[in-house]
Amino acid sequence: MNIEVKTAKVRPQSYAGDLAVHFVREGENDGPASAGAEVRELVSRAVAAGDFAGKEGQTLLVYPGGRGPKRVLVAGLGSEKVTPELLRNAGGRIAAAAGKTKTEKLLVTLPAAGLPPGEAVRALTEGLVLGAYTFRKHKSQADPEDEGGELREILFPAGGGAAARTGIAWGRAAAAAVCAARDMANEPANFMTPTRVAELARDLAGRYGLAAKVLGKKELEKLKMGGILGVNRGSAEPPTLSVLEYRTGRKAPTLLLVGKGLTFDSGGYSLKPAAGMHEMKYDMCGAAAVLGAMQAVGELAPPGLDVVAVVPATENLVGPAALKPGDVITQYGGKTVEVMNTDAEGRLILADALAYGIERYKPDFVIDLATLTGAAIIALGHHRTGLLGNDDGLAARVLAAGEAAGEPLWRLPLGPEYGKQLKSRIADLKNVDKRDGGTILAACFLQEFVGKIPWAHLDIAGTAWDFTDKPYIPKGPSGVGVRTLLELIRGWK
Ligand code: BES
Ligand code: MN
Ligand code: ZN
Repeated sequence: MNIEVKTAKVRPQSYAGDLAVHFVREGENDGPASAGAEVRELVSRAVAAGDFAGKEGQTLLVYPGGRGPKRVLVAGLGSEKVTPELLRNAGGRIAAAAGKTKTEKLLVTLPAAGLPPGEAVRALTEGLVLGAYTFRKHKSQADPEDEGGELREILFPAGGGAAARTGIAWGRAAAAAVCAARDMANEPANFMTPTRVAELARDLAGRYGLAAKVLGKKELEKLKMGGILGVNRGSAEPPTLSVLEYRTGRKAPTLLLVGKGLTFDSGGYSLKPAAGMHEMKYDMCGAAAVLGAMQAVGELAPPGLDVVAVVPATENLVGPAALKPGDVITQYGGKTVEVMNTDAEGRLILADALAYGIERYKPDFVIDLATLTGAAIIALGHHRTGLLGNDDGLAARVLAAGEAAGEPLWRLPLGPEYGKQLKSRIADLKNVDKRDGGTILAACFLQEFVGKIPWAHLDIAGTAWDFTDKPYIPKGPSGVGVRTLLELIRGWK
């Protein structure tokens, strides 16, 4: 992502860039007040012809003459309340129009009414930058049918003001962090290895002055992290566990973030079917979301919470040393687990990471994100992240943050009646029972390693990719979770 976003004192009519954007509400039939007479005339003709009404999602591209912008896009905002999500979607559509016209320089006039300018600029920045996202690293040649990727500069003729500048900074940091998470996820598993995950964690710590620590295989062995090591046994790539610490320097509560970093999940000997297995390179989207959130936190330095991130990473493959169904492993801290199904591996690496993070960093709150269960997709489809946890207050905060970020969640229950299903005949626990209620059972397993600390678990299996079709969410990985976490941390009181 290499897009400059700034405010500037320019008149939209004399802006000499590639594209100027104006908004209209539905029924504003004389065109946008912010545009010049010629644009307004062109818009009212389109309205009279029945081609444009300013409905939400409608856009009209016009080509006024003169010395102003090469093109003008008029974007409808409908007649409902203007919300951040509405503006993020509008930003995404503008980015698509900019892509089609190979626009490098873009000017966006703020909608006349609705949100305070700081919030409007923030939401538009997020939508524009996220909508302009592309991943072309592995194309050896430019594809002429590929649209987008040219956008370099976004101007808001907002007259400046501290609120607008702050809005841009927040929107940019959030969007850049989401793009970083998408990049990590798009990267194939032969590039995004556990070692690479740890390198990225170290890099970002260096950039933002966070404390960083990476545990390699030897250290994990010394600490007896039998979950991560067990899952790793079929892999030629050594596992890593990365820890990043953001400290406010004040007396603030500590939030522990844990993200599932399965850089590839074949299922192990409980092998997945071939169809769709390639998608399991995305099984590190929890890790990507946590690292993305740490990037934005590092950049914006919010004052309310100290944040510690623990990111366990490994592949789950087969081989002569791999775990076999029925094997017993010992998790960090000593609990034993009968591995009935080697494809329920995420909970095994998260259990070590949660137990270690809690013991070592004594957090006040814990949140983990994981592409943990196919059952979450069965339950909620691709429109909501599954939320489970042991604390109503924390759950309410996470739900509100997700709602504000346009990343909605839905809470599922936990309870001892479910937990009982994970009793093993020969070890302390088994990692699966029959399929029913799979998302809840997975969370119950994690709960065994969390205890009483307020904890929220986000099962992002349905939303980490193939998320709700929206103008600022591309096909492929969505970067879900990054903006929810950021919203939660930024607003913490
Ligand atoms: N990474 C998968 C979950 C998953 C599946 C995420 C599909 C996204 C799309 C996880 O490791 C897994 O395989 N879970 C099993 C658990 C089962 C064996 C209890 C599943 O959901 O089938
Ligand atoms: Mn699996
Ligand atoms: Zn998995």
